Amino acid sequence: MRNSVLLLAMGMLLATGQPGLADDAELIKNTKADHEENGRWYTSDDIPTYKIAEDGTVDWPTFSGFRRYNAECFQCHGPDGAGGSYAPALATSVMNIDYYKFYETVVNGKQEVNAAQNLVMPALGENKNVMCYLDDIYSYLRARGTGDLGRGRPAKKEKKSEAFTENENACMGE
Ligand code: HEC
Repeated sequence: MRNSVLLLAMGMLLATGQPGLADDAELIKNTKADHEENGRWYTSDDIPTYKIAEDGTVDWPTFSGFRRYNAECFQCHGPDGAGGSYAPALATSVMNIDYYKFYETVVNGKQEVNAAQNLVMPALGENKNVMCYLDDIYSYLRARGTGDLGRGRPAKKEKKSEAFTENENACMGE
């Protein structure tokens, strides 16, 4: 009996199992820290994410993301990932587009230039100050997007790990 119910459920899954919008939406919603690698947290799907302790201490990469966001994205996308008059709220975007789309947009840029508007997201793929910290920026924006991280500068942060420093130096070519 149990087996046949299971089989039926599997059959229904197979029948509807095209990787559709619903699946993608579920995937994008998952921000849960599952494992740590080289000083950075990842979800069970191996997507960079944040980890915030009960006392509000944020992991180093997420804190780094706050700083880098403010240096590289803030002037167009507004404070706290909340959007500016010129560019959309990235804290919302990262809950709607997936990690790969986010990455691709930053590398190649995006434009909406026509009679009604003149929106240009610059291609930042050659900018090391962005690319070496893009996973940090992503984790920060995700923490803002779920609301797990409040506005402003995170008050408490983990120390920068040696592994993080090594990767950072290798990426920046120092
Ligand atoms: C010079 C202004 C400017 C800067 C700097 C800038 N952006 Fe943008 N960005 C834009 C504009 C304008 C758009 C909207 C483009 C459009 O709709 O075609 C945009 C769109 C995006 C999108 C797509 C959002 C969506 O919902 O589809 C992402 C992702 C993004 N920016 C990430 C970043 C990140 C990360 C940084 C910092 C590393 C950054 N941007 C810096 C102007 C900027």
